[in-house]
Amino acid sequence: NGKFTVPIIEGDGIGPEISAAVKKIFGAANAPIEWVPVDVTPSIVDGVQVFPKRTVDLINEHKVALKGPLATPIGKGHVSLNLTLRRTFNLFANVRPCKSIEGYNTAYSGVNTVLIRENTEGEYSGIEHAISPGVIQSIKLITAKASERVCEYAFNYANEIGKKKVLVVHKASVMKLGDGLFVSSAEKIAKKFPNIELCYELIDNTCLKMVQDPSYYEDFVMVMPNLYGDIMSDLCSGLIGGLGLTPSGNMGIDVSIFEAVHGSAPDIAGKNMANPTALLLSSVMMLRYMNLPEYADKIEKAVLETLASGKDNITKDLKGNATTEKFTSEVISRL
Ligand code: IPM
Ligand code: MN
Repeated sequence: NGKFTVPIIEGDGIGPEISAAVKKIFGAANAPIEWVPVDVTPSIVDGVQVFPKRTVDLINEHKVALKGPLATPIGKGHVSLNLTLRRTFNLFANVRPCKSIEGYNTAYSGVNTVLIRENTEGEYSGIEHAISPGVIQSIKLITAKASERVCEYAFNYANEIGKKKVLVVHKASVMKLGDGLFVSSAEKIAKKFPNIELCYELIDNTCLKMVQDPSYYEDFVMVMPNLYGDIMSDLCSGLIGGLGLTPSGNMGIDVSIFEAVHGSAPDIAGKNMANPTALLLSSVMMLRYMNLPEYADKIEKAVLETLASGKDNITKDLKGNATTEKFTSEVISRL
């Protein structure tokens, strides 16, 4: 039927509502996507989370998926399913663009950053143990293999979007071996890209300069270890109006999964209050990745116009008055 089938993980909390908004808008835009909902309820095999075989097969077969937020337990309980997904499909580079929305004003304007986060190791390796009561060792795992492949991804990405500089963000002044390896991996990869300059910055300094003048970072693609990227990407979202606005792509070799940066927001779930923008813009990234730029442009333009159209059409997280459904129909009216 000329359509592309895409698995969708609707997610927890506000996930089903914002997924419904995406589906409705895609339908109205005649985007050639047929969604197939997949279940990510894991079973535990030898102490490790395993997704249902049908889900894994479908995602492998289709190579892309869209994912809503999955709740993450804090301090105890199972490993975050978000992380298990990244691990299961070896999604090694997390691409997080962040751009000011024209017509939606915050204290900052002219934000236009791209952050690429190592997505498989670092502090997220999940290796932690108690050495004695009151003493815990949490391992930050850094390998040349993962560092080089994410840096190579960043250089290729810079080439693709026409940026001339890659900024490696690190703290090798303190973590001399671990972050040192990340930096030397960037240097090794940089040799293959003579047209792109490799620049360096310490993560604390990047935070300082980012809140002083985010426009400085427009010239770069930033690349950094996992936890720094997690924190820095929230910081960047905060500059433009919050997590309700920022998309991301978890990129692997064969499979890529596009997801919003925000969580499942259980406090507002089911209340017709959630902002679907982040998931929408993630699905726009997905359409571009699938080589369907006409639909990506059309949907993105309608979303951005709606965000610029005033308080009555935007959701409460953006200090607006619109419900999820109202926002959705405003987007559809602008397609
Ligand atoms: C993100 C999220 C996740 C992360 C959580 C939910 C495990 O904060 O995608 O940024 O820390 O990576
Ligand atoms: Mn995060």
